[in-house]
Amino acid sequence: MKVAVFGAGYVGLVQAVGLAKLGHEVVVIEINPDRLKELDSGRVPFFEEGLQEALQEMILSKNIKFVERFEGEVNSFEMAFICVQTPSDEHGGCDVSAIEAVFDNLIELSFKNFVVIKSTVPPGALDDYEEKGDFELIANPEFLRQGRALRDFFQPERIVIGLKSEQAEVKMRELYKGIDAEILVMSVKSAQLAKYAANTMLASRLSIINEIAGIADVVGADILDIVQVVGSDSRIGGKFLRPSNIGFGGSCFPKDVLALNKLGEMCGYKSTLIKPMIDLNSRRPEMFIEKLKFLIDDLENKKVAIWGLSFNANTDDLRESPALKVLEILVDMGVQVSAYDPCIGIDRLGYLADRVNFCRNKEETLPADFLLVLTEWEEFDLETWDKVVDKIRMKLVFDAKNFLDRARIERGGLEYCGIGICKMDALDPGRSRLD
Ligand code: UGA
Repeated sequence: MKVAVFGAGYVGLVQAVGLAKLGHEVVVIEINPDRLKELDSGRVPFFEEGLQEALQEMILSKNIKFVERFEGEVNSFEMAFICVQTPSDEHGGCDVSAIEAVFDNLIELSFKNFVVIKSTVPPGALDDYEEKGDFELIANPEFLRQGRALRDFFQPERIVIGLKSEQAEVKMRELYKGIDAEILVMSVKSAQLAKYAANTMLASRLSIINEIAGIADVVGADILDIVQVVGSDSRIGGKFLRPSNIGFGGSCFPKDVLALNKLGEMCGYKSTLIKPMIDLNSRRPEMFIEKLKFLIDDLENKKVAIWGLSFNANTDDLRESPALKVLEILVDMGVQVSAYDPCIGIDRLGYLADRVNFCRNKEETLPADFLLVLTEWEEFDLETWDKVVDKIRMKLVFDAKNFLDRARIERGGLEYCGIGICKMDALDPGRSRLD
């Protein structure tokens, strides 16, 4: 099938490469000339695992092409996918202006086939365009996790399609024929709201486990045991329950949860549960610093090593990264920080660049008084800590994402501190909150 994909960001590029690998003929429209040039020469302008290799393969097989404008025989394309950004507006709602610009373009060109919205948009926000244009709108929300996006494309939990006509259903089923997943067909509005619902459910799960882990911290319980108990209840399930000391991040959860709240408000439903969840999550980096202050005397004068800055492993995305926020707070406090991230260069640090000792590998961040591991990159979960133990003066490793192997750290002669598994008594018996 011949398809056009508008936008070569995280979603658009994965969608385009994925469709090309399924054998479709894909043309990507990217208005940013620098990005276009890079893509044309087979370079992905951001890091997403496996994407660069897959893109090069598709360029060679001529299944994918990049252009600046959608023009010419536009109706030879059976579908146009909209994958442009929908950031938060200043009121926490969803800014759909980039999508509107694509619609205007399609209307101007008299595009007559299917327009598929992949971007996350509030139900009903773009309905007018169907009346203005001569095409049928389809909603096909994405459920791609940055860092595993290609895998999520080929092995999705389900494919969601919101549509009106039988013809649209036939086309969409044909499009995804090579993917072994259940296809859930519903109305456009339901599909669009389902995307918000999924992200809000996931974010609320993390919010709750983070709260429970915080309580486990102060009562001296172990969150790993608690997750095992909770997760073994099949009504709850054990996935996506890893607590984080610094909260969840990324460009999706905070933005989408706030947009859902705003949508409810605009339609006359006032939710009291949703927004506080995001407010609390955005305070987590500060709460983590409070915890550090409580556990470490004279924090301001310590030398700290930080491993990991991106919001998630296997991505170089710093948007809404709680790790970056922690770094910022420490630097503003005057703490001496050495930092490393496998995928982020110093040019990405903006004003922080001059104030941080930015390192090319994790070993360079040491010696330090203690270590903060802030992103769940696999390379941080060392096989053995023997080689670094002498370079961590206070013998303390903080695992903000609870993903490191605690036993290995302890075997290496270091104290482990996660969330909900922090042995505060052992850290400083005189100052324990548990007394
Ligand atoms: C999220 C959803 O998981 C995707 O299904 C959705 O398509 C995407 O948003 C989107 O709307 O585009 P993403 O934000 O890319 O994906 O990444 P996740 O892997 O979900 O991680 C989000 C945050 O939660 C990260 O900061 C991660 O460290 C944190 N997290 C994740 C935890 O703290 N604990 C966990 O158990 C899992």
